[in-house]
Amino acid sequence: MLAGTKVLIAEDDPNSARLISDYLAAKGAQITWKKDGSEALEEAQAGNYDLLILDLRLPGKNGFVVAREIRNDEHLFDLPIIVTSAFPDEQNLLLSYQLGVNLFLSKPVNLKKLFLHVKSLVTRKHKLENKMLEALYRLNNFCEEKLNRPGHAARVENNCLALAAACKLEKHMASLRVAARLHDLGLIFTGNSSEHGPVGAKITRIFGVNQEIAYLIEKHHDNITPVAEKRLDDMLYSYLEILKLAEKIEETYRNSISCFYQDQDKGFLNPEVIPVISKLIGAG
Ligand SMILES: [Fe+2]
Ligand SMILES: [Fe+2]
Repeated sequence: MLAGTKVLIAEDDPNSARLISDYLAAKGAQITWKKDGSEALEEAQAGNYDLLILDLRLPGKNGFVVAREIRNDEHLFDLPIIVTSAFPDEQNLLLSYQLGVNLFLSKPVNLKKLFLHVKSLVTRKHKLENKMLEALYRLNNFCEEKLNRPGHAARVENNCLALAAACKLEKHMASLRVAARLHDLGLIFTGNSSEHGPVGAKITRIFGVNQEIAYLIEKHHDNITPVAEKRLDDMLYSYLEILKLAEKIEETYRNSISCFYQDQDKGFLNPEVIPVISKLIGAG
């Protein structure tokens, strides 16, 4: 099955799009459909997709241009691409493979075959991502030992889980958990500087983590105005607040319960998180 798999479909024919979309959605995939090549490219760059199903004849940028730009994009270069085309002549097929698409399927698409290929490409992508994350977690553990605070990131992750549950946040939990585990990775290069957020984000971007994770790491010590950030992603902003608070519980409240009480008195803390923090720091 494809539970949680994010698939982007670039297809100008609504019937073809609906057929593929319904079939993969029934297998658990989350589908986004764009009719135009330029819009599909923008969506691929903005979102965090596991796979792209790409028609060749599209308004805006055609499928070849979209495939080329994705392969030339430093963040998207390894996004799996399946081309579907009603014109499976040798020229289209060879050019598609030359541009680096993973698979060329003729229309009408054999849905069962499509599903099996989607599953295999996405599984491979996730395995590679997990390997990369494992390497970064090890690097972070090494960093924590060097700085004499083993277990810090794991505790911040636990704080995030408790706070997010109290606030009923779910959508970006996978990104929040990774960001919590890697939020202070930059410290190994910056010492105690406040630059460790941006530096950590830069390192994780080089290793190909998604934009959401890099954003959360980059901003976890920023004083940012909610209004400006809400333009970026209304929901993601809430997760950044959770990460910042989880860090503060670890760095400040655990060592000084009076700081917690002061923030509470000043009205800095939402009522739903106060009992959670009390429990986490063992405040009476
Ligand atoms: Fe931290
Ligand atoms: Fe930090």
